[in-house]
Amino acid sequence: MTKARVFSGVQPTGHLHIGNYLGAIQNFVRLQHEYDCIFCVVDLHAVTVYQEPAELRRKIREIAALFIACGIDPNVATLMVQSSVSGHAELGWLLTCVTPLGWLERMTQYKDKSAKQETIGAGLLQYPVLMAADILLYQSKIVPVGDDQSQHLELTRDIAQSFNSRYGDTFTVPATKLPTHGARVMGLDDPEKKMSKSATGTSHAIGLLDDLAQAKKKIMRATTDSNPAVDFETMGPGVRNLLGIYQAFSGASNEQMQNEFAGLRYGDLKKKVAEQVAQSLEPIQARYREVTTGNLDDLLRQGANRIRPVAEATVRLTKDRMGLYT
Ligand code: TYM
Repeated sequence: MTKARVFSGVQPTGHLHIGNYLGAIQNFVRLQHEYDCIFCVVDLHAVTVYQEPAELRRKIREIAALFIACGIDPNVATLMVQSSVSGHAELGWLLTCVTPLGWLERMTQYKDKSAKQETIGAGLLQYPVLMAADILLYQSKIVPVGDDQSQHLELTRDIAQSFNSRYGDTFTVPATKLPTHGARVMGLDDPEKKMSKSATGTSHAIGLLDDLAQAKKKIMRATTDSNPAVDFETMGPGVRNLLGIYQAFSGASNEQMQNEFAGLRYGDLKKKVAEQVAQSLEPIQARYREVTTGNLDDLLRQGANRIRPVAEATVRLTKDRMGLYT
């Protein structure tokens, strides 16, 4: 029996942080043996806002190297860069033509991002259609992501279903896979806000490549609440976030969490979380230093070459369904 397809992508912008790892990449690693997985560095999404070209080139390789450092085996899963398979952009256009503008204007990420900019590139509005194309291009069944991508996944399903009902069965309708813990890691400095790659503020996020002593300090400085110690009934968002980070890294059960943390003073809570985070990041950082750039380019090219025929078949089928010249 052929394995069901899994697809997910990460943008080569900013610094990958523990939210990206716990929300998405940790699940990539878990799923790779059970499914036919494609993990993609989505550079076409990155250029929806200006990226300095040399920096973007460097970031693409950094993300690919981090995928491997986090435990993705390029001999098991397919690693690739989005722009190296032209079907992403091609299917993106075809799906644009069947997507109502109102669906895109409703996207909360679009509203947030466009509110922060003086001039908005048309690509920012298009962004979720390209994401739908990434997923539908490979007839993906499962998409492991963090909670902030749930709305984009709903849109992907809407686009697939509306295309299928207008033109006949063409696309697999994908399911969203959120992690049990860590689907929405919040900022350490402001637990009301999602931990973000672009947010400034040195105490906001823990980068996967942060110096471990610095990372621990950030946790020790994290915002908590006015209680003196952990109370599972009344805890505020800062304490909930720290406990969530611990649980997602350690895999502890709810019962173990209760036993270990109930009544613990915040200083001690932070120490435990800091130790756990450092212990989990240490092997990732060690492997990252071993991944070499030359080899990486070969792997990414091989990944794209291996998967391109699947993309081409879907583009051909879609064009044919629409009555385009094939
Ligand atoms: P990106 O690059 O912003 O984030 C990569 C992954 O990390 C997850 N994530 C988080 N999870 C938990 N807590 C957080 N604070 C947190 N911040 C980010 C994201 O949910 C994501 O899974 N649009 C996507 C990239 C994309 C994609 C795709 C994903 C393009 N095409 C197709 C899946 C399938 C994005 O910007 O992710």
